[in-house]
Amino acid sequence: MDTRIFQLDEIDEAAKLIQDGQLVAFPTETVYGLGADATNEKAVKQVYLAKGRPSDNPLIVHICSKDMAEKYAQHIPDDAYKLMDHFWPGSLTMIFKIKPGSLSKTVTGGLKTAAFRFPDCKPTLDLIKKAGRPIVGPSANTSGKPSPTTAQHVYHDLAGKIAGILDNGPTRVGVESTVLDMSGDHPVILRPGAVTKQMIEDVIGSIDVNHHKVGKHETPKAPGMKYKHYAPAAQVYVVDPGTNWDDVVAWIKQQPFDVGMMAEEKILQHEVLPMNASQFSLGNNVQDASARLFDGLREFDDKPNVKAIVCQAFPAEGLGVAYMNRLNKSAGGVHFGQKK
Ligand code: TXA
Ligand code: MG
Repeated sequence: MDTRIFQLDEIDEAAKLIQDGQLVAFPTETVYGLGADATNEKAVKQVYLAKGRPSDNPLIVHICSKDMAEKYAQHIPDDAYKLMDHFWPGSLTMIFKIKPGSLSKTVTGGLKTAAFRFPDCKPTLDLIKKAGRPIVGPSANTSGKPSPTTAQHVYHDLAGKIAGILDNGPTRVGVESTVLDMSGDHPVILRPGAVTKQMIEDVIGSIDVNHHKVGKHETPKAPGMKYKHYAPAAQVYVVDPGTNWDDVVAWIKQQPFDVGMMAEEKILQHEVLPMNASQFSLGNNVQDASARLFDGLREFDDKPNVKAIVCQAFPAEGLGVAYMNRLNKSAGGVHFGQKK
């Protein structure tokens, strides 16, 4: 199958493919998603196949209006409406109980709930409107690899497996949406994102964060808790705040292979790098770093000689919580200088 790249003036064609039950990757403000008609069971099954995704990991349903969510959700609590007013369109995904039978088991992974997301990206909203139906959209990467933040990343992973990619350039946020479970008695953050705990609490008061580890036979409630995530082939080392980068550079020099170094501009400019180091700039702050993290991990994943990646940590506050969540997962919790 030829994978076509659609420009923004070709959204009609992309929408037609979705209506025909084909897979089309689409941009959002966070990462690129792998789109299919959420009401077409056969098309949704193809999404799992193309990604190599385990079938008990449920999909996000992308919508372009509150009405579209109300069509499937059994009960939307008042607090959720308050959050919609503040954060939709935006990077907050909310989980609601659904009307029985309204969405297929393939979408929900067998759960009685579904995740709804109203992205802050006009081309995506146009695509959903033109397709005239909700669109499922897991991140458009091969399962286990870093999420795609450009159309080229999607092409790298899924060329030949999907009908098209709608290209909107690099995504703005770079880490996936906050997932907030609104289906229980008390709201719980299942995955941190750009809409932070504090921002949510400012609107609806105190909420919880899920730290539960998922068992082998359990359906995951929290994204990325059960399966390997964001992992390039090379071992990633988290370089904690306060680490002396001269020590990191000295360590790189001793390695018999190439090492990727991901750090802020000011650190890269300060260090003299050895021959076996390749650098990737994370920009000037945690916003830049979040937007660039997956791009850097992917760049080094394409270089077989790079067998280790050292990557700068940021304080886990505000957007830093989401950044550190993704970085820690890609590193499997391994820190630079840590005794094994
Ligand atoms: O920013 C994003 O959310 C991106 C863009 C494309 O919209 N999408 C994305 O989808 O990250 P995905 O499938 O890679 O991550 C969604 C996560 C899944 O890992 C899944 O475990 C969780 O949300 N999820 C979906 N439905 C759920 C449900 N009913 N209950 C609990 N978790 C759910
Ligand atoms: Mg994903």
